[in-house]
Amino acid sequence: MNTILVGAQWGDEGKGKIIDVLTEEADIVVRSQGGNNAGHTVEIGKEKFVLHLIPSGILRAGKKCVIANGVVIDPVALVGEIEGLEKRGIKLANRLLISETAHLVLPYHRALDEQRELRKGSNKIGTTKRGIGPAYGDKAARTGLRVLDLVRPKTFSTKLKSRIEENNAILKTLGGAPLSFPEVERTYLEAGRKLAPYITNTVVWLHGQLEKQKRILFEGAQGTFLDIDFGTYPFVTSSNTTAGGSCTGTGVPPHRMDRVVGVMKAYTTRVGEGPLPTESAQVSAMLHAMGREFGATTGRARRCGWFDAVATRYARVVNGIDDLAITNLDGLDTLKEIQICVAYEYRGKRIAFPPNDAEEFLHCRPIYRKFAGWQKSTSAIRHFKKLPVAAQRYLKALAELTGARLRIVSVGAQREQTFQV
Ligand code: GDP
Ligand code: IMO
Ligand code: MG
Repeated sequence: MNTILVGAQWGDEGKGKIIDVLTEEADIVVRSQGGNNAGHTVEIGKEKFVLHLIPSGILRAGKKCVIANGVVIDPVALVGEIEGLEKRGIKLANRLLISETAHLVLPYHRALDEQRELRKGSNKIGTTKRGIGPAYGDKAARTGLRVLDLVRPKTFSTKLKSRIEENNAILKTLGGAPLSFPEVERTYLEAGRKLAPYITNTVVWLHGQLEKQKRILFEGAQGTFLDIDFGTYPFVTSSNTTAGGSCTGTGVPPHRMDRVVGVMKAYTTRVGEGPLPTESAQVSAMLHAMGREFGATTGRARRCGWFDAVATRYARVVNGIDDLAITNLDGLDTLKEIQICVAYEYRGKRIAFPPNDAEEFLHCRPIYRKFAGWQKSTSAIRHFKKLPVAAQRYLKALAELTGARLRIVSVGAQREQTFQV
C-alpha cells in the first residue's frame, strides 16, 4: 500500500503528526516537494520535534526516509537539521537518502526572496523568506545548481561563480547587499562534504524498493491552496503541493499509488497573505489565547477562521482524496456554536467552487451552516463513538461536505491522541 498524504487547506494541517502516526505501517517516507519553508511538528511524550526538510517518518526507528528530486534543498539548513536530530539521539546513518537531482537553495535565492517581498510592499506574499520561489524559478529557467553539483567541487565552484555574479547584479538593482563568492563557496562545499554519505540516485533506489513490495508514504508539504497551479495564485508557494507532485517529485509513477489521504484541521488557518474567506477575529482570538496557531517555521501568528468546505471540496477534487484525517478537533471544544462555510456568495451569486482570480476570491463572502458545539474536552477520547454526539455530527458533516471518507481523528498534538474511524 503506497499512500500520498497531502494538506487539504492552506498548510499546517497537522501533516507531520499524521505522518508520524501512519509511518508505523510504512517502510519508507518520502518528501517530494517544497523545502525548509515547511515546518512539520511531531510531539512524542515530552519531546517536540519540528521537521523542515527531513521526512517526519525519521522519528520512528528503522524507517527509511528520502528527500526526493522535487524538493529544493538548502544544504546548510539540512546539515543543521541532521545535526540537531543526531544530538537528540535520532540515528540517520543508512536511513536518510538525498536525491542527487534535487535543486539547491543558495544564499542569493534567500536574498532575492527578501528583496522581492520588500518591493511588493503591502502586496507582499508573506513568504517564509527561505528562498523557495527564486530556487524553483532557477530550476524552471534551467539556471539552477543541483545536489550532484555540490559534491563535484570544481563544477560547483565554476557554476556558483557565474551565478553569484549574475545574482549580485540583480541584487544591486533591487537594493540588496552583494554576496561574497569565496564565503558561499566555502560554507556550501563544507555542507556538501557532510551530506555526501546520504546522496544517491533516489529514483533507482525507490524503484528497487517498489519491486520488493515496500510500503511507501509520500509526505506532502504545504497545502492545496498553496499549490503553484491550483492555489490562490500569486499567494502560493512555488511547487505542486497536490497529489501529482508526489509522482513528478520522486519518479514513482501514478499507477503505483494506492490511496490519497487528505489532512485538514477542524477549522481553517493560513499564514501569509492572500484570500481566506472564513477568516474570523473571534476564532483567531480564541485559538491564539490558547497558545495555538503560531507558525512552526517563522513563529508568525496564523490567521484563523471557520472550516471552509468549499475549499476542502476542491481539494478532494484536485488531489483525488480517498481518506480524511481531521486534526485539532479539540481546538473547538469550548464553543457553544460552530459554523461551517458551505458555499460562497460572489456579487449576489452562490458559488460552489473557489474562483481562480485572487481578487474575486478576496471578495467572496462565506455562506455558513450553523452547528451545535459540544463544550466538553475531547482530548482524552480515543473512540469515535465516545465523542459527544455534537462532535460526531460535526465531523460527519466535514467529511460529507468534503466528499471523502473520515478515517483518522486527532484530538491533541501527541501521537496517542489519535484514533481511526
Ligand atoms: P504541518 O505543517 O501540517 O505538519 O502542521 P504544523 O506542525 O505546522 O502545525 C500543526 C500544529 O498543530 C502543530 O503545533 C501540532 O503539534 C498541532 N497539532 C496537530 N494535531 C493536533 C490536534 O489534534 N490537536 C492539537 N491540540 N494540536 C495538534
Ligand atoms: P507546511 O508544510 C503554511 C506559505 C507562506 C506564504 C506562501 C509562500 O508546514 O504546511 P514560500 O516561503 O513557500 O515562498 O511562501 O506559502 N507557506 C506555508 N504556509 N505551511 C507551510 O508549510 C508553508 N510553506 C509555505 O507563509 O504564504
Ligand atoms: Mg507546518
